[in-house]
Amino acid sequence: MKRPGQSDKSLRNLPGPLVLLGAGKMGSAMLDGWLKRGLSPRKMVVLEPQPGRLVKALARRGLKLNPKGKPAAAAAIVIAVKPQTAPEALPPLRAHIDKMTLVLSIMAGRTLGFLANALPGGTAIVRAMPNTPAAIGRGITVAVGNAKVSARQRKLASDLLDAIGAVEWVGDEALMDAVTALSGSGPAYVFLLAEAMTKAGVAAGLPAELAARLARETVAGSGELLQSLDLDAATLRQNVTSPGGTTAAALEVLMGPGGFDELLNKAIAAATRRGRELAG
Ligand SMILES: NC(=O)c1ccc[n+]([C@@H]2O[C@H](COP(=O)([O-])OP(=O)(O)OC[C@H]3O[C@@H](n4cnc5c(N)ncnc54)[C@H](OP(=O)(O)O)[C@@H]3O)[C@@H](O)[C@H]2O)c1
Repeated sequence: MKRPGQSDKSLRNLPGPLVLLGAGKMGSAMLDGWLKRGLSPRKMVVLEPQPGRLVKALARRGLKLNPKGKPAAAAAIVIAVKPQTAPEALPPLRAHIDKMTLVLSIMAGRTLGFLANALPGGTAIVRAMPNTPAAIGRGITVAVGNAKVSARQRKLASDLLDAIGAVEWVGDEALMDAVTALSGSGPAYVFLLAEAMTKAGVAAGLPAELAARLARETVAGSGELLQSLDLDAATLRQNVTSPGGTTAAALEVLMGPGGFDELLNKAIAAATRRGRELAG
């Protein structure tokens, strides 16, 4: 898998400017990843009312910040504003779009249909759902494209998203609510696990600071192990569980009635339902 720091041919050879709408947390993380992959600031246009330090520094190296006048058609436009901002933020993008332009949106809940209505007819659009570890280049993003997206544009979308972590594609947009419930909201579940482990450690007699450190390092280290070993989660769990031992005693509770499986099933179903209600 490519990691930030490696240059990417399709980013270095863009046939036109790359426009970023919204350079907040997600937009800036992407910008940083693209730079590390060899995209020149001269190829970048940023539309952002309150640019941060990174964007201002790049503007001194040729990035165009909120340019005036008739824009050149973009090779790609990445939409990274909050979903509620979309109705006012999208119309100015029309001037940047022609037949070759790929529009890639990471707005949660904004559908391909909503985007197609707001943009010129026939626009190639990809909707993507990243998650917060994107901030350190370790996100996982799931993408879905409309029928106008060519193979070349799909590759470009993958390369643009690859700058903030791994990328998966689905063919059916209806799956995006379950994706949002699993990986989009998922970091919060993992943080909650660390919180709950800390509280349980304190209840078992540990000083609060030590319990918090043990929980944090255990979650982070286990995540690294899961990432670096070619074994699935169930096998890793079985490998650390001796029959009749301490881990087995805990797992009997966690895997019993009303345990982890049941709770996460309910939680992810609730998040999927909520995603469906909010989509538009
Ligand atoms: N954070 C996540 O984990 C996550 C995960 C999945 C998807 N997403 C999606 O990613 C998108 C961005 O999230 P974020 O956390 O990066 O939000 P954010 O930090 O608030 O960034 C949005 C940026 O867009 C700017 N903006 C607002 N209106 C604008 C306009 N009309 N034209 C140009 N720029 C405008 C905002 O400026 P002001 O500050 O001045 O308003 C802000 O800097 C959201 O749609 C969210 O659903 C985020």
